[in-house]
Amino acid sequence: MDLGRRAVRPPGLPSPPKPPEDAWVLMGERERSLAVAEAEFEEVPIAPRGVGRNDGQPGAAKPREPLTLPPMAPLTLGRARVVAVMNQKGGVGKTTTVINLAAALAQAGSRVLIVDLDAQGNCATGLGIRKADVERSTRDLLLQPEVAGACRYATSIENLHLVVGDRRLVGIEDVLVSELGRESRLAEGLEPLLPHYDLVLIDTPPNLGLLAVNAMCAADGVVIPVQTEYFALEGIAMLLRTVEQVRLRLNPRLGVDGVLMTMHAPTLLNNQIAGQLREHLGNAVVEPPIRRNIRLAEATSEGEPIHVHAPRSNGGQDHLRIAQALGRRWGLSKG
Ligand SMILES: Nc1ncnc2c1ncn2[C@@H]1O[C@H](COP(=O)(O)OP(=O)(O)OP(=O)(O)O)[C@@H](O)[C@H]1O
Ligand SMILES: [Mg+2]
Repeated sequence: MDLGRRAVRPPGLPSPPKPPEDAWVLMGERERSLAVAEAEFEEVPIAPRGVGRNDGQPGAAKPREPLTLPPMAPLTLGRARVVAVMNQKGGVGKTTTVINLAAALAQAGSRVLIVDLDAQGNCATGLGIRKADVERSTRDLLLQPEVAGACRYATSIENLHLVVGDRRLVGIEDVLVSELGRESRLAEGLEPLLPHYDLVLIDTPPNLGLLAVNAMCAADGVVIPVQTEYFALEGIAMLLRTVEQVRLRLNPRLGVDGVLMTMHAPTLLNNQIAGQLREHLGNAVVEPPIRRNIRLAEATSEGEPIHVHAPRSNGGQDHLRIAQALGRRWGLSKG
């Protein structure tokens, strides 16, 4: 595609003289780099026009290519289903989803393990566990798979265990980079634990770095919480490209188990984006949208899942219905 070229020098600013060819070798390093910088300054390509506000749908940024979703991996009897809750965007409700989904399914009788891969360690806080008292964390699970069993802690919810993420995960990617099998360290650590659970939920950090790749290598599927806001579909498209690469190169089981609409408000924009998500992603979208509800934020700060803190709140009801819907997909509940 011809992007076109234009000089962006402000009017009135004189161009510096271009050095003649043979002057180049006589120039010092500094002059040469100034000349190169000047040439780059002159040659700024015009960005191709995308779709967005001007495509006739206000606020509705669309992905540029069709989204293709990999199928869900089949269920395996006697071995936990491993699900990574992912979105490279921060603050979309990943941790809130992990805590409340895990707690609701554990309360319904499933044996659930949460693995927190985020150094922010919000899963521990949200489940009322003091990180300072925790001896072994996700870091140990990744670096010493032989101590996997000892990295788990029981929570106040029956059937719900947690591997705590905390500050010790800062810098772990630099350590893993030089390790053998760096993408599959989590899968290796989890392997001996899988017969003891029905579901392992992995909370991931807001990026697509090596920890996120480890989550995808260990997982049967990803669940993608997404806010019904601008750029929702573009964010999902980017994540799906990474899922596809991991699927092709590292983990052929990896599928998409669901897309959750979070922090949903009854505005025109939120409803429009929800409509687009349903149109593009079909059955992958798990209903209902989770409404924006202050009780969910309150519950986290109290260290309680929403079904304990405020089960009848909008947030409590929506999360329960999401847990029931995903529980059915995963063969965990009949309700
Ligand atoms: N439906 C909701 N209504 C209102 N507040 C919510 C809702 N869901 C989550 N929150 C709040 O929004 C904030 C961000 O949520 P959360 O921590 O779950 O996002 P995250 O994707 O895990 O963030 P990060 O990328 O930083 O890990 C939290 O304060 C949480 O309590
Ligand atoms: Mg989080």
